[in-house]
Amino acid sequence: MNLDTYLAFMIREVDRSLDGFLPKEKTRPSTIHAAMRYCVFAGGKRLRPVFCLAAAEACGGDFSQALAPACAVELMHTYSLVHDDLPAMDDDDLRRGRPTCHKVYGEGMAVLCGDALLTEAFVVLAQTPATKRYGTKDYLSELAETGSSRKLIGGQVMDLEGEGKKQTKRELVRIHEAKTAALLTSSLRLGAMAANATPAKLEALTAFGQAVGLAFQVIDDILDVTQSTEVLGKTAGKDEAVEKSTYPSILGLEASRKEAAKLTKTAMDSLAPFGKKADRLRELAGHLLDRKY
Ligand code: IPE
Ligand code: IPE
Ligand code: MG
Ligand code: MG
Ligand code: MG
Repeated sequence: MNLDTYLAFMIREVDRSLDGFLPKEKTRPSTIHAAMRYCVFAGGKRLRPVFCLAAAEACGGDFSQALAPACAVELMHTYSLVHDDLPAMDDDDLRRGRPTCHKVYGEGMAVLCGDALLTEAFVVLAQTPATKRYGTKDYLSELAETGSSRKLIGGQVMDLEGEGKKQTKRELVRIHEAKTAALLTSSLRLGAMAANATPAKLEALTAFGQAVGLAFQVIDDILDVTQSTEVLGKTAGKDEAVEKSTYPSILGLEASRKEAAKLTKTAMDSLAPFGKKADRLRELAGHLLDRKY
């Protein structure tokens, strides 16, 4: 199966599962359920769930074993975007090619929608079948740790406090690792755990996730300055407007592109213990590096 076909297939599976997991739009109070569905089914790239499913396969499992964690990471990711877009944070009007949650449903509802998506992530994650090595407690603590003030929230805090300040590359790496690479890494780890991965494989995937996750945010920052709002589906040029330190602003565009390529190479190298079984993950890492939105 070529990558495009694979992506289309996996995204369809994830969307179908999300539709099954999320409360129906008519469930009362219906406004919140409509808002949650509006944000989740807005046409995101579903990279985290696809990584989750591909990691399960790389560990010798079937992708279907990892559908619950795949949906859980997408729910946590979507919540982080809803809150990231709020006027008190990045103040964005456009997300995934549509008006942001607070533009359609109001700020109060957008705060609650983010809260509800985050909570739902754990409701869904708890439905992951246990394996010989891992059970519900392992899955829950993996994702909870990643969503915590030490990882994703911590990264968003450092990002917010960094506005208007010149950051060093080292500081920037810390922010990116926390706000972006941590969830990408957990997506892989949860897929692997749902496929009963050995500790050695879990470790290799962790190294892969950290490098590919960092590369992912470097590319997000590059696209912010090089791509149009139409193609991105979110407002371009936001980082510069708030004087955010980014890879392009610190290193320049060319050096940032090289850095992203180097990180992708590091990521691919860390998959050595898998041999050919991780070819799909390598392909996905290459795809992220070349992405245009
Ligand atoms: C955007 O993530 C936020 C970052 C962490 C850079 P994505 O680029 O994966 O967004 P969607 O899910 O496709 O909308
Ligand atoms: C968002 O980073 C990271 C999280 C939501 C955790 P950005 O603020 O760069 O994401 P975009 O550019 O708005 O998608
Ligand atoms: Mg932000
Ligand atoms: Mg933002
Ligand atoms: Mg960005």
